[in-house]
Amino acid sequence: MKANKFAAALVAASLTGAAYAQDEEADGGTGQALYEANCAACHQYDGGGVPMMQPELILSEKANGDIGGVIDMILLGSAAVPAGTSGYSNEMPPFDYLSDEDIALIASYVRTHFENSGGAVTADDVRARRASHAGQ
Ligand code: HEC
Repeated sequence: MKANKFAAALVAASLTGAAYAQDEEADGGTGQALYEANCAACHQYDGGGVPMMQPELILSEKANGDIGGVIDMILLGSAAVPAGTSGYSNEMPPFDYLSDEDIALIASYVRTHFENSGGAVTADDVRARRASHAGQ
């Protein structure tokens, strides 16, 4: 009985914490968590970027435009940017080791936060884009 009570208290505590962190996110907060784990070190928690080093994602044309742009950026990193056209001193690594689902959640988070309104990206979108790069 004691152990059960303890377990129930733990579940209640983690639910409260999760509800606080998730803040009414449609995906339960997963997109935000993935963004913060993989992207925020460079693009910052608020999407503000760092001048000269990495672009801000706030109102970014690439983040909001054609879904292929943001998906390729995540899959390929700086390799998605034509040589000689980058205005930033840092390099973005490829995140192709993430699952289609995780990339879709991150891309959707970026396109629906930071004043962006590009809309959601699905795992099927990512799968199609990944397939188009296969063998290159
Ligand atoms: C090590 C630092 C670093 C990390 C980590 C990183 N990026 Fe980037 N990102 C960059 C740099 C640098 C550029 C600029 C590339 C260029 O134009 O040369 C960039 C560009 C972008 C762009 C294009 C923005 C624009 O307006 O041109 C998007 C979108 C983007 N990153 C999203 C992400 C997402 C989503 C993640 C996490 C999965 C991520 N980045 C992780 C450094 C990083």
